[in-house]
Amino acid sequence: MKILLTGSNGYIGRRLKQKLLIQKHDLRLLVRNPKSLDKTIHERAEVFQGDTFDLHALQKALEGVDVAYYLIHSLQEENYRELDKQSAQNFLDAAVECGVKRIIYLGGLGIKEHASQHLLSRIETGEILSSRPDEIQTIWIRAGVIIGSGSASFEIIRHLSEKLPVMVTPKWVSTLAQPIGVDDVISYLDSAKDLKYDNNLIVDIGSQKMTYKEMMLSCAKALGLKRWIIPLPVLSIKLSSYWLNLFTPVPYNVAKSLIEGLSSEVVVQNDHAKKYFPHIHPASFQEAVQKAIQEMENNQIHSRWSDAGGGVDLWEAQHKHDPSSAILMDRQTLKITNVDKKTLYETFCAIGGKGGWFGYEWLWEVRGALDKLIGGAGLNRGRRDRYKLRIGESVDFWRVEDLVENERLLLRAQMKVPGKAWLEFKIQGDEFIQTAYFYPRGLWGRLYWYLLTPLHYLVFGNMIRAIYQKAHTNEPSKKGYEN
Ligand SMILES: NC(=O)c1ccc[n+]([C@@H]2O[C@H](COP(=O)([O-])OP(=O)(O)OC[C@H]3O[C@@H](n4cnc5c(N)ncnc54)[C@H](OP(=O)(O)O)[C@@H]3O)[C@@H](O)[C@H]2O)c1
Repeated sequence: MKILLTGSNGYIGRRLKQKLLIQKHDLRLLVRNPKSLDKTIHERAEVFQGDTFDLHALQKALEGVDVAYYLIHSLQEENYRELDKQSAQNFLDAAVECGVKRIIYLGGLGIKEHASQHLLSRIETGEILSSRPDEIQTIWIRAGVIIGSGSASFEIIRHLSEKLPVMVTPKWVSTLAQPIGVDDVISYLDSAKDLKYDNNLIVDIGSQKMTYKEMMLSCAKALGLKRWIIPLPVLSIKLSSYWLNLFTPVPYNVAKSLIEGLSSEVVVQNDHAKKYFPHIHPASFQEAVQKAIQEMENNQIHSRWSDAGGGVDLWEAQHKHDPSSAILMDRQTLKITNVDKKTLYETFCAIGGKGGWFGYEWLWEVRGALDKLIGGAGLNRGRRDRYKLRIGESVDFWRVEDLVENERLLLRAQMKVPGKAWLEFKIQGDEFIQTAYFYPRGLWGRLYWYLLTPLHYLVFGNMIRAIYQKAHTNEPSKKGYEN
């Protein structure tokens, strides 16, 4: 069986890829940014670069494929509904033309009549993919809240439960949902490729029914915390979205899309999961939460909701905005004399998250809080792993744009700034170079940069020395890094 996996750098796709690789399938990946893949991937899978708007790349990737996984969505883009429809149509047409036998798609639980824009887009995608049943079969798996380390839903529930002893919440906390652990989602997706069934099929998956209030209280309990939740009917979607934006790692636009969907029930509508996949027994919400907490504590988060989207940024960075030609920059250089270069590389690659930003932490905190206030990602996305980095993943309000072993780390700013900003750490010969690049947007962009110059002087000047000092005192990560 030849399998094509799309979205393999996304939250679900990364985990499914791991499972399919273990099974040693004849696996193909369609990715927008091959750099974000593990270096050894080429020995284990065929990699095709491209996206669903590139018809030629789609054709090449789908040629000779039996089963194609469609794990794509563009939620972070403003016009995501239109993009998602076009993307699904292109994929379906190319799959039919290439003689693919089965598409497996993961969408969301819910009913069209009460669906939010986000859910509607997931339903439209499923309808498009299922629209040529005589030519190609589609297995459409539908999941609601997915609980796992790094999933958006779990991160929201966890942050709210951890940070707020008493929560005054909108009435949607009483809406019923049917959460499911991420490992079970992967089991359904994996088993769907082997299912002996020839027609289109919709499979709703979930464990026990519970309200969001029960989920938050249960998560707090697993964290050893006692919490009180008081639902109030007056809180609007807008206010709740700001609330989520402030207290959890999700930016305003994602919070709003999610909140809009919380007013209607997302529960299983058919018994196909039990009927066609009787060997899968979904873990309870409590078990899934325990597993997620355990993975976090053991520094074993395999994928995170915020890691997709690296492809687009990288492409832009490489093709439109070469950081080295930025018109404003702050460059600091140190001579490398008595520090091992590998240790130096590992030290700057440990930047961000709980390890902090090598000094002036309170200034970074203030910048993060300001970012949150204007709807940005803020600092609390943290890092997936304390030491390891992958191209494309997020680090606080930055994204890893490039990583060259023992040489370079390039971070692209995802905070709200009037322009485009990068931060680069580079080992070149016997020099350690740290550069902040900035492409200002208009007059305000330039003003922003010049107003911050005194702070840059303090923060960046101190940062390079602190990194060097830390590497010098030889505090290696011990765990290395990953490309
Ligand atoms: N995560 C959840 O909690 C959850 C819950 C219920 C249902 N689902 C469903 O599961 C599916 C996967 O979700 P996810 O959370 O894994 O998404 P995700 O983390 O946002 O990943 C989306 C993936 O799609 C890729 N992509 C986006 N546009 C593309 C295009 N035009 N061509 C090729 N690739 C493109 C992205 O590539 P880059 O890496 O290059 O950006 C990324 O790998 C979605 O249909 C979603 O509705 C997810």
